Amino acid sequence: MVVLGIESTAHTASVGIVAEGTEILGLASDTYLPTAGGIHPREAANHHVEVFPDLIRRALAEAKVRPREIEAIAFAQGPGLGPCLRAGATVARVLSLAWDRPLVPVNHCVAHVEIARALSGLDDAMLLYASGGNTQVIAHGSGRYRVLGETLDIGIGNFLDKLWIALGGKFPGGPAIESLAREGTELLSLPYLVHGMDVAFSGLYTAALALDRAGADRADLAYSVECTAYSMLTEITERALAHRHRRDVVLGGGVACNERLRRMVQEMAEDRGGRSFAPPKRLCVDNGIMIAWTGLLAFREGMTTTVERSGVEPRQRTDLVRVPWR
Ligand code: ATP
Ligand code: FE2
Repeated sequence: MVVLGIESTAHTASVGIVAEGTEILGLASDTYLPTAGGIHPREAANHHVEVFPDLIRRALAEAKVRPREIEAIAFAQGPGLGPCLRAGATVARVLSLAWDRPLVPVNHCVAHVEIARALSGLDDAMLLYASGGNTQVIAHGSGRYRVLGETLDIGIGNFLDKLWIALGGKFPGGPAIESLAREGTELLSLPYLVHGMDVAFSGLYTAALALDRAGADRADLAYSVECTAYSMLTEITERALAHRHRRDVVLGGGVACNERLRRMVQEMAEDRGGRSFAPPKRLCVDNGIMIAWTGLLAFREGMTTTVERSGVEPRQRTDLVRVPWR
């Protein structure tokens, strides 16, 4: 079975084509980069509309499949920015009608964790989903992904992006802070905000900016922000492992690209006799492969929709959708 997936929830427009066994056949992506400040939803959506025709051609060419070999069209239904979601959903509906193929709605958060889980080969791991808009510790139970802990304010990636932009940099902030942090040596004191299995970042954001204004070394600041924020994530993941009597961890989402976070979670899991896994970076950030793969799993369960009922869901939470394939 071959499925095509359309991703367009935020900054990235992407088309992925997968076959059974998570065989990655083709992937083409294009990210909207604001010239200054954060993402402007309308501008991002316009970007997506412009690039999709070429992305579809490129993904099909790389996959060496013809449209008639594609059995279903999956698309990210939510959560995300309304205009961006609608751009991708419109493309998916057009393909579904033009190629006469079923339409499969996919939750973007479930897709991040599902591709990570499939590639990990770890069956019952705790999932740490760390991305732009989301920060969640997730376990599967009774037909759904259950959120055991999460951010009480903003997602870790948005925190890093906002901080970097406030310091005069450009989106995305996560990778920029990561490379600056490599030169840091001194651990500066910052608020550590863990509440049970939840975290919060706005106090950390305010304190980091105050330290910068007080003349802190930028590399030390980046290093300290990473150590503090990623320790918070490692701690809540460990707590979830202990409560659920599990040992293995699978990381997903754009912030799972971060080497320090990967290392910290790996050390914690290994200390507990378990393992940790993070996908290759191009499959951590937003991509059409994760949508196509989750679409394939959903399609096998008959979870299709119609053009009329395929409205986007900007606030669709991870724990709102059924996951009957597990
Ligand atoms: P969500 O999945 O919550 O809807 P999103 O789709 O906007 O969020 P992703 O594409 O999953 O986000 O991830 C993008 C985020 O990942 C950005 O905030 C970016 O700064 C962050 N990021 C990317 N690479 C790294 C890195 N190496 N270190 C830290 N953060 C990173
Ligand atoms: Fe994402």
